[in-house]
Amino acid sequence: RKKVRIHHFREMKARGEKITMLTAYDFPTAKLFDEAGVDVLLVGDSLGDNILGHHNTGVVTLDEMIPMARAVSRGAQKAFVVADLPFGTYEVSPQQAVESAIRMMKEAQPHAIKFEGGRRVAAQVKAVVDAGIPFVGHLGFTPQSENMLGGRRIQGRGEGAYEDMLADALALQEAGACMIVLEMVISPVAEKLTAALDIPTIGIGAGPHTDGQVLVWLDALGMGDWSPSFSKHFGEVGKAMREAAAAYVGEVKGKTFPAANHTFDE
Ligand code: KIV
Ligand code: NA
Repeated sequence: RKKVRIHHFREMKARGEKITMLTAYDFPTAKLFDEAGVDVLLVGDSLGDNILGHHNTGVVTLDEMIPMARAVSRGAQKAFVVADLPFGTYEVSPQQAVESAIRMMKEAQPHAIKFEGGRRVAAQVKAVVDAGIPFVGHLGFTPQSENMLGGRRIQGRGEGAYEDMLADALALQEAGACMIVLEMVISPVAEKLTAALDIPTIGIGAGPHTDGQVLVWLDALGMGDWSPSFSKHFGEVGKAMREAAAAYVGEVKGKTFPAANHTFDE
């Protein structure tokens, strides 16, 4: 398997090969997913909720994200690593976006940066790309603006919704984005956007017609207490960890661990 590079995404779209993306937030998980053949590892700002235990997507900081993104970059051999910029680190101006993106690139060494929004951040996207930093867009349900969207609501419904999202997607493509994540978008709209764009779309809760799929790994591998209806458990890692930890507790309490073969004599 070759190292995944930015030019491969359009090639994969052109030949109809689906692009696979999973979130990753640390070194061992990044290494496992890379070995499993995942094309893109996303250090999402979802790490705030999923790993740090925040109860709101908006509060995670660049200082919290950088060490984890650095760990993922170290764990990835072949996969393309994308790191999110958290809420409050790019909205103010193109200069703020470039400064935050450069900090992330220098300190954590991902291959690309992602942040949310369409036309409203097109100037930021262009500035980041002009600085030599690959950019991934994110449209549809955008958790950082959940309050503005009125909650976790499915996007793309209603008159003009497709045209509106297309204008955002084209603005991102025009500004130099290399891919666009579509989150919780009705399938027919995601399909039409995918056909209208030269760059690949990566769906999450956006149906089967996008150029690739992304899931939060805790949802996909059965790690969390809750997962969204559009996700699927491809494994039961949480159950396996709970059982392994309980087995350890049982053996230590029951005095069967450590046994002779785990023990240094003399
Ligand atoms: O932060 C994240 O995990 C994401 C994905 C849901 C696309 O942005
Ligand atoms: Na995110």
